[in-house]
Amino acid sequence: MTFPKRQILSFIFGMLTLMAWAHKGKHHPNPSTLQKENFIQINEMYLAEVKPIFEKKCFDCHGLSSSAPWYRNVPGAKQLIDDDIKESKQHLDMSSDYPFKSHATPIEDLDAIRASIDRNEMPPIRYRLLHSDSALTAEEKEKVSKWVQFGKEILKE
Ligand code: HEC
Repeated sequence: MTFPKRQILSFIFGMLTLMAWAHKGKHHPNPSTLQKENFIQINEMYLAEVKPIFEKKCFDCHGLSSSAPWYRNVPGAKQLIDDDIKESKQHLDMSSDYPFKSHATPIEDLDAIRASIDRNEMPPIRYRLLHSDSALTAEEKEKVSKWVQFGKEILKE
């Protein structure tokens, strides 16, 4: 049994119309586009609130300044500190803003940052001893924490 060509075509057309109608109003943005927009939002807050803090207190090891000038005053420390910088970057490289380059996911980085700050692990004690003002103040901790919270809420959605 064969159908006339016109009938088949109009059936297909009808199905397509029906599918288009059923689909109307549903948005299916590409997940990677969505993720990119999330990162942009999180990075905007990072640039405004958090980066100025990290620049002062973290970038000597985690940031762009890979030949940190601060060790020049510390005889014999060069090797130690070069290793420190290399290692810190392997864990978390902040040099190109959020999302950071790291071995973890962007959301895990947020957790790790908050944990390291809550536990006073970062900046490391050896660094704080040489830079008495490098520990985060209560106000700075609060800002970082709020940013982490903001980022986590967005990424969770
Ligand atoms: C003196 C260099 C130095 C400074 C300054 C420093 N870090 Fe680190 N950081 C390291 C090193 C080395 C590691 C890797 C070894 C470790 O975890 O102790 C690390 C690891 C980390 C990790 C863990 C990443 C993971 O793998 O879980 C986080 C998060 C972090 N640093 C955040 C910060 C923040 C935030 C600041 C500034 C407030 C900061 N660090 C300042 C050297 C530094």
